Amino acid sequence: MPILTRPENMQRITSPELAEAFIEEQLADIKAQVGDKKVLLALSGGVDSSVVAALLIRAIGRQLVCVHVNHGLLRKGEPEQVIRVFKDELGANLIYVDAVDRFLDKLAGVCDPETKRKIIGNEFIEVFADEARKLEDISFLAQGTIWPDILESEAGIKAHHNAGGLPEDLKFELVEPVRILFKDEVRVVGKALGLPDNMVYRQPFPGPGLGVRCLGAITRDRLEAVRESDAILREEFAAAGLQGKVWQYFTIVPDFKSVGIRDGRRSDEWPVILRAVNTRDAMTATVEDVPFALLKKITARITSEVKGVNRVLYDLTPKPTGTIEWE
Ligand code: XMP
Repeated sequence: MPILTRPENMQRITSPELAEAFIEEQLADIKAQVGDKKVLLALSGGVDSSVVAALLIRAIGRQLVCVHVNHGLLRKGEPEQVIRVFKDELGANLIYVDAVDRFLDKLAGVCDPETKRKIIGNEFIEVFADEARKLEDISFLAQGTIWPDILESEAGIKAHHNAGGLPEDLKFELVEPVRILFKDEVRVVGKALGLPDNMVYRQPFPGPGLGVRCLGAITRDRLEAVRESDAILREEFAAAGLQGKVWQYFTIVPDFKSVGIRDGRRSDEWPVILRAVNTRDAMTATVEDVPFALLKKITARITSEVKGVNRVLYDLTPKPTGTIEWE
């Protein structure tokens, strides 16, 4: 049986050697738990589910069925990277679900942030359940639950199950191979499993994705402006050596326009807001002191490369009084 509770004297996994020892232990546990049965996993491309996928692929190969749901709210290049890394390089049994229209149709006209979150969460479970029902002989559900999730759910802070809430006919036995690890340990294990750095060290990304950064009612054109500006911000931060140093950075596009000038004519276009913050636990946050020259470079790129955007602003607000996300 897999260990369900982190042993009190467990050494923190900080080196490749310790990661290898953990991996060997897990491979044996997974094989013992699963046997020749099939396991289902919702693979988002986030650190936790990616590490779980890589471990399970090593342990049971194509007995693992990964489902990657593209809800249209992922960052630029993410669905492609999931397919490249897991299907092409690791030979995973991966089902890619293009659910973009399904999500965006459900979200059309919805302004309230919490309603948007609920729709995205519920729709995700429905899409995943639809895929699960098409499959035969699934016995287990793998999840990227980590130790802080267990602690927080025990303390009543949040419910932890990523794919929890699946309907009754889809109650599978759980496989949670990183359950006793802290986040930094998951990264060390991911690195030892050969996952790419930008997957292992990626910044936190909310479950509702870009959906809560395209403020108010989501429209496809504004969502595209969020995705493109975010890609530029990440590219420029990486080039300036800030990747991995700043805790979280992203862009926001509000649902109003302002007057500007483009090609000698009046233009009514959206602003893009940049946010870059540092924190230990996301309860409070400070604003990154981004060099002014870099801000100007990012502004020039966004206003010339992103369709429909004529202004760029930098959010100087710490948490509190602001939250990290805008909605
Ligand atoms: P706030 O905006 O509350 O964000 O200061 C704190 C951290 O939580 C992330 N965040 C979310 N993560 N689902 C998530 O999985 C959400 O609905 C959500 N809202 C905020 C945010 O990105 C930051 O890292």
